Amino acid sequence: MKIGDIVIDPPILLAPMAGVSNRAFRAIARSQGATLCTTEMINAKALAYHSAKSTWLMELDPGETPVGIQIAGSDPDLMAQAAREAERHGADVVDINMGCPVRKVVNNGDGSALLNDEEAAVRVVKAVVEAVSVPVTVKMRAGWDHDAITAPRLAERFEAVGVQAIALHARTRSDQYVRPADWRFIRQVRERIAIPLIGNGDVQTPEDAARMLETTGADAVMVGRASFGDPWIFRRIAHYLQTGQELPPPTARDRAQMGLWHLERMVTIKGEAVAIPEMRKQLGWYLKGTPRSAEYRRRAQTLRTKDEAQALVEEWLDHARNEELSWT
Ligand SMILES: Cc1cc2nc3c(=O)[nH]c(=O)nc-3n(C[C@H](O)[C@H](O)[C@H](O)COP(=O)(O)O)c2cc1C
Repeated sequence: MKIGDIVIDPPILLAPMAGVSNRAFRAIARSQGATLCTTEMINAKALAYHSAKSTWLMELDPGETPVGIQIAGSDPDLMAQAAREAERHGADVVDINMGCPVRKVVNNGDGSALLNDEEAAVRVVKAVVEAVSVPVTVKMRAGWDHDAITAPRLAERFEAVGVQAIALHARTRSDQYVRPADWRFIRQVRERIAIPLIGNGDVQTPEDAARMLETTGADAVMVGRASFGDPWIFRRIAHYLQTGQELPPPTARDRAQMGLWHLERMVTIKGEAVAIPEMRKQLGWYLKGTPRSAEYRRRAQTLRTKDEAQALVEEWLDHARNEELSWT
């Protein structure tokens, strides 16, 4: 798959995820075969007010490419400004958020609220496309609810104003995360657009990825939650798509090493005081899969320092070795 001139091969993407797809996790996902990774959502209005956090979210690792920077908002001028800022920071792709279901966001007319206002959505997209020279993509849900499946029509209009790929999260806003993704929505968008289409929602295994590509006509898959504590999923999907064979799961040692690398990188990027609370849940995800892992995961929730975190992971690894376990 190509987005503009950018080759995305194999066509496996890391989903943009607030609180997760930061520089550290993007580097991990990329090292495991995710060919396009996207930042956490960045609010265009906050950026315009020079919010330190929003500016910080745009920071990329040196040489990080290809990378998407995702912006959110409904004011065309602010979105154009945010897009230019993203391009200046090195974005290969500027991605527009039209999926966020959070009340605070939709009450401002942003995120998935744009799915309800076709003209406003097209104005935003057009302003962003005109503001930058890099490709613009839109990540959207299928519609506001099951009585308003607006994505197929919107995708067609976005293509007409110059968007170069659509990522469809196959749920409506009202589904939140409760109702399972319905991949038929991806197929419906496929029927309306010729630009690349990225399918997203509930891909948990390599077989899911293959089935999504086969049944929807999507050109690529985007993986979110299944990569938590398991970034190897990108490699397993790539291998399965190429060979039809499953790679073995990561060993306990692989998990411990990755958890420690993630910890180290987060502390470097964010400093210990911010990194450790964020790493509690991340380490918990890496430590899944031993008989006593519930206990280790509980202890991970109380970590206060990098030293404590390292000691816990090492203790878990010793325990896993004693049990002679690799994964389960
Ligand atoms: C913790 C979390 C944060 C998310 N943040 C964003 C975001 O910032 N921008 C976005 O477009 N989608 C966001 N999403 C949605 C994901 O990108 C993706 O569409 C959704 O999780 C479905 O894919 P999955 O089933 O593979 O997880 C987020 C999802 C989660 C779980």
